[in-house]
Amino acid sequence: MTGLSVQTENLVKNYRMGTGEVSVLKGISLSIGAGELVALTGASGAGKSTLLHILGTVDRSTSGVVMIGERRMEEESENARANFRNRSIGFIFQFHHLLPEFSAFENVLMPAWIHQESSPSLEGRATALLERIGLGKRVQHRPSELSGGEQQRVAIARALLLHPGLVLADEPTGNLDTHTSLEVFHLLRELNREEGMTLILATHNESLARFSDRTIHMEDGRILDKAPGGESETPVVQ
Ligand SMILES: Nc1ncnc2c1ncn2[C@@H]1O[C@H](COP(=O)(O)OP(=O)(O)O)[C@@H](O)[C@H]1O
Ligand SMILES: [Mg+2]
Repeated sequence: MTGLSVQTENLVKNYRMGTGEVSVLKGISLSIGAGELVALTGASGAGKSTLLHILGTVDRSTSGVVMIGERRMEEESENARANFRNRSIGFIFQFHHLLPEFSAFENVLMPAWIHQESSPSLEGRATALLERIGLGKRVQHRPSELSGGEQQRVAIARALLLHPGLVLADEPTGNLDTHTSLEVFHLLRELNREEGMTLILATHNESLARFSDRTIHMEDGRILDKAPGGESETPVVQ
């Protein structure tokens, strides 16, 4: 699948807290092109994860519009959203959530098994991805037999198995040291170019945002037009 575009209009998310409400997203409008790599930056609590959950269709907004490709997601049934999510969206989290009893190869194939869809071509895809991320000699290793960076690479391969058009990464290097983080960012940048998926990457590490095509900076539930320090919102890379 080629990359999916992502658009939101005036996205609002409020949580009920006791008798009141807390406003977490305060009108997010953005437009991300197919195949773009966008860094979503902002301090802890800015609303990055909440926004990714809504874009990933695992949560619903209070109001506003989410378009992924041609689909207006809030109009779709839960079933349709779940099918779309499983097929077309890949997730990478801060903690890899690999299954400890399974090998790297089996963990990468897990999205196919969940659909009861393992096939020689998907197994070939899993092997090719593991080779691509530099773990061709570690396919039978269990997570506990891999370093933190290697575990996160396996989680990246798992997210890409079914050729998602959109990949959402929430602090994917938050648990890694600086050097390993840089390697993982490089890998994500390369895979984005090779596979063509749209990649939205939430990070509070502003310096790592330079690996992206563009930075969208959030503060207190809103998008700021200018990143801190007066930089333009739309520079970087190539
Ligand atoms: N389920 C929830 N109920 C109430 N408040 C929440 C909930 N989830 C997140 N929040 C609040 O929303 C704000 C943004 O959180 P989050 O999206 O996790 O930010 P970030 O990922 O940028 O650190 C925080 O103030 C957080 O406390
Ligand atoms: Mg978060």
